[in-house]
Amino acid sequence: MPYSFPQGFVWGTATAAHQVEGNNVASDFWMLEHAPGTLFREPSGDAVDHFHRYPQDIAMIRQLGFGAYRFSVEWARIEPVEGYFSIAALDHYRRMIASCHEHGVKPCVTFHHFTSPLWFTLDGGWEDRANVDRFLRFCERTVRHLGDLIDTAYTINEANLSATLQVAGVFPPGGLKSVAGFVGEAAKRYGSTPERIGPFLLGDPMKLRDTMLEAHVRARDVIKSGPGSFPVGVTLAMQDFQALPGGEAHVARARAESWDPFLEAAREDDFVGVQTYSRSRFDANGPMGPEPGVPVLIMGYEFWPEALEGTVRYAAKTANVPIHVTENGIGTTDDAQRIDYERRALAALVKCMRDGIDVRGYFYWSLMDNFEWLFGYGPEFGLVAVDRTTQRRRPKPSADWLGAIARSNTFPD
Ligand code: BGC
Repeated sequence: MPYSFPQGFVWGTATAAHQVEGNNVASDFWMLEHAPGTLFREPSGDAVDHFHRYPQDIAMIRQLGFGAYRFSVEWARIEPVEGYFSIAALDHYRRMIASCHEHGVKPCVTFHHFTSPLWFTLDGGWEDRANVDRFLRFCERTVRHLGDLIDTAYTINEANLSATLQVAGVFPPGGLKSVAGFVGEAAKRYGSTPERIGPFLLGDPMKLRDTMLEAHVRARDVIKSGPGSFPVGVTLAMQDFQALPGGEAHVARARAESWDPFLEAAREDDFVGVQTYSRSRFDANGPMGPEPGVPVLIMGYEFWPEALEGTVRYAAKTANVPIHVTENGIGTTDDAQRIDYERRALAALVKCMRDGIDVRGYFYWSLMDNFEWLFGYGPEFGLVAVDRTTQRRRPKPSADWLGAIARSNTFPD
């Protein structure tokens, strides 16, 4: 039987500033991408020039059939030097949000999506809890400028990402920084030290987790006390942790260390954002590799669209607030595989919703092919391809496929 999503269900696509805007030169990642010995496959460069082309991109979101756009404001542009807030940068984001409203697209704003100003990261970054106040000052200034136009806000994107990657056995205990010498060497070049530099993703996972948890809780209150009245939450990286016989204790520990602190904090939030791409299996020895016979994607994990069911169920049960699927998608050059992924992921979501789980929206990652962090421009997550020489956009068949579902608000049987 076809499934009709509830009226008002939000269909959107997502991006993040650093991955699409281009030339984010005051950010920590820009420096790390260019550092000698960098692990980044290539620098972000001009990206897909969304900084200048956002009006046409937002118009395209609407044309494709989506009613919401999740994007991030870039702290490194807004506060490129500590204590100096660029009104021009804030105005830029105000225009972007206004453009969403003009096109009937809900502006859903992430305050932090991986990148930070270089000055912040060199001085302890997310490893130092004393730095939470610096993030709050940015949130306060930004919401004062934009709050009256925001539809939904997310404090921090995937605040638990490094912790998740550590418990899944992808990152070593001290984080990537502990094994990738280029981060420490880069720190020294900029007058910091390998101990003091604290970038998101690459830093010490458990330190990042604790700082970001505190930052989320306090930022939520700061954002809520600004102008406007809109829901605020955090988004979490949730690969579905699955236990094979003997692996149950490992799964319980993985959830306790990387999800539960955030899901418990989310009980005081308006919703929780679930972001799922694949699964991680555990047996009695801990994290396992991909299952033989299951295709492995360019990101190194399995093609496993059904992962969304387990993560949505767990998040809803633990946080007991509405769920927004704030990211879900696939990096592939095979667009038919993308449609297959989407069909199966949405079927999994529909199962949860038929069981009464309160899911309010679904955002596909990503609107366009973009800068996939350490992987550079290799993985293609977009519904829309971009020729990065001409910056010409070309919607893929998957964009029409998902756009049609969004328009009809119905999932075919
Ligand atoms: C992040 C995105 C990223 C996507 C695909 C999420 O971890 O929020 O920035 O591009 O996954 O890997």
